[in-house]
This record gives sequence, C-alpha cells and structure tokens, in this order.
Amino acid sequence: MNNFYEIIDERRSTKVYDPQIEIPREELVGILETAGKAPSAWNLQHWQFLVFDNKEVQERLLPIAYNQQQVKDASAVIAVLGDLEANKKVDPVFDPAVENGEMTAEIKNILKGQIDGAYSREEYPRDAAFSNASLAAMQFMLAAKAEGWDTCPIGGFNPAALVSEFNVSDRYLPIMLITIGKPLQKARKSGRLDIRNLIDWAE
Ligand SMILES: Cc1cc2nc3c(=O)[nH]c(=O)nc-3n(C[C@H](O)[C@H](O)[C@H](O)COP(=O)(O)O)c2cc1C
Repeated sequence: MNNFYEIIDERRSTKVYDPQIEIPREELVGILETAGKAPSAWNLQHWQFLVFDNKEVQERLLPIAYNQQQVKDASAVIAVLGDLEANKKVDPVFDPAVENGEMTAEIKNILKGQIDGAYSREEYPRDAAFSNASLAAMQFMLAAKAEGWDTCPIGGFNPAALVSEFNVSDRYLPIMLITIGKPLQKARKSGRLDIRNLIDWAE
C-alpha cells in the first residue's frame, strides 16, 4: 500500500490479532526507521523504542496493559518512550552537519544555547518527550500500514509498572504502547466528528 490517502483511510486500531504471526526484526527495524523520520524539536529525536517481540515478554507486559489481550496476541508491541534528556543528543545530531560543512560550529553553539535554555525550564523535558515521541508513534502506525501491518495505540497501561518490570531508565518516559500484527478480525471503521466543529479561525 503506497497511496497516502489509502493508508490514512485503511489504518484503524486493530485489537484482535493472529497470535501465530511473527514479524521479522529486519522488517520492524525498517518501519521504526521510517517512524524515526518524524520531525522533532531541533531534530533531537526524543524517542526510544522498547520492542516486545516474543510471547514470554508479551505475557509479562499483559497485566501492565490491564490484560488487553492484543498485547499478547500481536506480533510485537512497541513501547514508545520519550527522552527526557534529548538535549544530550546535541553532539551526535549536529556534529555530522558541522563536519561535512553544512553547519558552522558557531551555529551549533547557538542552537546548543537555545536547547540548554529550554531544558532548564522545569516543564519542558516532559512536554517535549510527549509531543515529539507522539509524532514518531503516529508515523510508525502509518509506516506499518504501508507495509501491510495493522496497529493499535495503547494508552491504557501502567507506566510505573512498565518501568519497574522492564528496568526502563529514568531518562525515558513511557508515552504509549503500539501493538502490531495481522488482524484475525477486521477492525470496525471509526467515525469522526465534523472537522468544521473542531476548527476555530483566529481573529
Ligand atoms: C493515546 C491513545 C490511547 C489509546 N488507548 C487505547 C487502549 O488502551 N486500548 C485500545 O484498545 N485502544 C486504544 N486507543 C485506540 C483508540 O480507541 C482509537 O484510536 C480510536 O477509537 C479511533 O479509532 P481508529 O484508530 O481505528 O481510527 C488509543 C488511542 C490513542 C491515540
């Protein structure tokens, strides 16, 4: 599937998966690579993906996701984590551009100053982790659909339990889980409110 509008229309949150289907890691890496092309503030790529792709770890994840069976039956579950310390990525993000002459060291230092300023504000790291990682999450679901896989975003899980059961570093904040697999049952197409009621034109 590579028509953009078809991908958008055909993506729907799939909750009943065929438990027999495995997803090759290489394929998952390809979809995650596409997800990682999402935009992010200063290109700091505030996401980290924790992948559950065997039934043993998925079973441990099940109670953390309040026993939503899709977590066990999906081919894999991705925990999208937001990076609370994405400011630490300044060098790996900007140095290649400085080294190949696309950016001056001076510009890099100006950007670093802006980033340090933002990260010194108490609420910023958490806000940025949520907003930026969510863009990658959305892009993951669309990329998966383009590759013939169905997904479901899951907010119904216990983040503290996830962190403790799977030793997630306190650098990362669980944003959402995403199941991915092949449906046993085609998901119902959900409706939408009239977009005109959700638009205000600023004056
Ligand atoms: C942040 C977020 C959290 C969600 N949490 C759950 C969840 O815990 N369990 C579930 O089955 N679906 C969950 N969903 C899926 C929504 O129910 C679904 O996206 C919505 O009904 C629209 O349907 P569609 O995705 O098929 O268009 C979640 C979706 C989002 C965006």
